Amino acid sequence: MPRKKLAMIGAGMIGGTLAHLAALKRLGDVVLYDVVEGMPQGKALDLLESGPIEGFDAAITGTNDIADIAGADVCIVTAGLARKPGMSRDDLLSTNVKIMKAIADGIREHAPDSFVIVITNPLDAMVTTMKKVTGFAKNMVVGQAGVLDSSRYRTFVALELDVSVQSVSAIVLGGHGDDMVPVRSLCHVGGVPVDKLIPAERLEAIEERTRKGGGEIVNLLKTGSAFYSPASAAIRMAEAYLFDKKEILPCAALLEGEYGVDGFYVGVPVQIGAGGVERVVEVELTAAEKKMLAESVEHVRELVAAADKFLSA
Ligand code: LAC
Repeated sequence: MPRKKLAMIGAGMIGGTLAHLAALKRLGDVVLYDVVEGMPQGKALDLLESGPIEGFDAAITGTNDIADIAGADVCIVTAGLARKPGMSRDDLLSTNVKIMKAIADGIREHAPDSFVIVITNPLDAMVTTMKKVTGFAKNMVVGQAGVLDSSRYRTFVALELDVSVQSVSAIVLGGHGDDMVPVRSLCHVGGVPVDKLIPAERLEAIEERTRKGGGEIVNLLKTGSAFYSPASAAIRMAEAYLFDKKEILPCAALLEGEYGVDGFYVGVPVQIGAGGVERVVEVELTAAEKKMLAESVEHVRELVAAADKFLSA
C-alpha cells in the first residue's frame, strides 16, 4: 500500500516540528514547503538523515515549489508571520490573509482532495479564508486551536492537583483569542468535576492562564510563538483523519446553525475520521459559558469582516 503524503506548508518552527512528529509517528511521506530558499530543503535533509537512527523510511523532502504538494492527503498550514511580544494574534491579520490566499490557491490546484488543517493566526480568520478561497467542502477544512488550548488547560489543572495529565479531561471552545472559553463545567479529573477539587479563585487563575497561554510563551521566547504543542495538536487531528479514528476533538469548524451560529468558524467539539470533520458535537453549557461563547463568536465575526476587507483589497 502506498504511503500517505503529508504536506507541511510553512517550514518554520511549527512546520519543522510537524515534519519531525509525522516521521517519528510513521504517518507517511512528508513534503516541507516554504518560500524561504534552502530552509525547507535543509530541515528535510536533516530529518531524513535521522531516519536510520529512528528507523523510519519516509521520504522527507523540502521545496520552494508549491506544486510539490501534489497529491497530498493532508495539508497542515502554518505559513505566515508569528507573534512577537506585545502583539495580539489579530495584529497579524493583513499580512497573513494575503499569504493564506496564495497558499489556498496552491492547495486548490495541487492537492484538491486533501484534508486541510490551518494553524496560522489569527486562526479563526485564516481558516475562514482557506475555506473561502479553496471552495473545499466544510468537512475538509478545519482549524487547529481547541486541541492546543484544551491541552494547556489540562496541563495547568494537572499541575495544580499533582495528577497525571491523562486523568484530566477538558475542552476549550470559541475563537482562538484571549476570550476563548475554557469550559469549567466539562472539566473532569478522574471523572470528578474540577470545581469539586480546585477552589473557584484558583480555577479562575488557571482559566486566565489558559486564555493567555500563547502569549505567555511568546513573552518567554521573544522571537516567535509556541511550536511544540501546536504541532502536537495538529498531528493529533491528522492522525484522527488518516486512521479514521472518529475522535472527538475541539477544533475550529464551520458552523451552520450549531450553537446558534451560522456561517462562521468557531472552536467546538467535532468528530474527525476518514470523512474529515464528520460532525459537530453540541455539548451543554451553563448560562455563563454560553454568554462567554457568544462574546468570543462576536470577536470572530469582527475578525472575519476585517479579513474579508483585506482579501478583496
Ligand atoms: C499559540 C499560537 C500557536 O496559541 O496561536 O501558541
